[in-house]
Amino acid sequence: MLVGILGGGQLGRMLALAGTPLGLRFRFLEPGTNAPTSVIAHQIVGDYDGPRALARFADGIDVATYEFENVPLASVRQLQQHCPVYPPPAALEAAQDRLNEKQLFRRLHIPTAPFVAVNSRSELDEAVERIGLPAVLKTRRMGYDGKGQRMLHTADDVASAWEALGDVPLLLEGFITFGRELSIIGVRDQHGNTVFYPLAENTHQDGILVRSLAPAPDVPGSLQNRAEIYAMQVMDTLDYVGTLAIELFQAGERLLANEMAPRVHNSGHWTIEGTETSQFENHIRAVAGLPLGSTFPIGSSAMVNIIGTLPDAARLLDIPGAHLHLYGKAPRPGRKLGHVTLRANEPETVAARLRELETRLRGA
Ligand SMILES: Nc1ncnc2c1ncn2[C@@H]1O[C@H](COP(=O)(O)OP(=O)(O)O)[C@@H](O)[C@H]1O
Ligand SMILES: [Mg+2]
Repeated sequence: MLVGILGGGQLGRMLALAGTPLGLRFRFLEPGTNAPTSVIAHQIVGDYDGPRALARFADGIDVATYEFENVPLASVRQLQQHCPVYPPPAALEAAQDRLNEKQLFRRLHIPTAPFVAVNSRSELDEAVERIGLPAVLKTRRMGYDGKGQRMLHTADDVASAWEALGDVPLLLEGFITFGRELSIIGVRDQHGNTVFYPLAENTHQDGILVRSLAPAPDVPGSLQNRAEIYAMQVMDTLDYVGTLAIELFQAGERLLANEMAPRVHNSGHWTIEGTETSQFENHIRAVAGLPLGSTFPIGSSAMVNIIGTLPDAARLLDIPGAHLHLYGKAPRPGRKLGHVTLRANEPETVAARLRELETRLRGA
């Protein structure tokens, strides 16, 4: 079976690495020439909406998926005339626009931060009036790693935030003073069967994920259940096939959905070593029509992103239980270049090694 993947970044690379042992072959469509997938699978270099590139990509693939959520919807719909595309375009449509996404959560009675769509300066003033401050102003589309966002602490911040972002449709969200951030990752197969990973606890710096602990510490069964129900509702509504991630804020007893990703997710990288079947393998299994594998965690894991500069591999691998994943990307400030997963039987062991790992990464 030949699986076509739109997007040739690290997520695509890890999908192909997980799916190859299952006897599957992969082809990527990706605009960049030195993309992370270029060295491991057949690559078609071209724009996602270039008719010729898209036709070459579609020719002979049995099924298509995507690892990048901003692929044009029209291209995905066109691909559907050649082969099945999973997750369904409806999921992509919901996730590409923060307003659609939050409205979907609201329709399913999944709690979120208060939000209001903003299309003009006067609407921004009204939204600030309604939601109060502090608040976060976000572009509805194309934001990632905290890009396209401005914090509004006081009324003085409104004008400059509008100045910075105001030429595209926006969303104003109430600022949530959360205790921590969590994410739930679920996978749904073509028959509607679902599996869920244990919640991960995620730390962001400047909007970029820096660290995940998994299974997240101190998670009562009721919290895990609630998160699974939210993910299940989203997947069932969309007749979803593949891996889905929902980022959550935990504030006391409250669990609020922040955003969803219709794809494998950075906060699930720990599942490669930390569970029986990784999010990548399960995504590929779902897309290829295979049974899903167990999501059972093997001990405890911590995942740390390598951002901006490349570390000395030997110094990291010297830490017991460390697994290094480099994506083959050129260093650039703020860019995700790889990650390290630490896995051990006891969370205390992981915590001690994590301190060592973060010290060594800082010294890199
Ligand atoms: N309404 C909010 N209240 C508090 N923190 C927020 C809010 N929205 C975003 N953040 C912080 O910014 C990070 C990035 O925002 P997010 O909406 O997830 O955008 P991105 O698409 O860039 O990941 C979140 O993980 C969280 O740490
Ligand atoms: Mg996010």
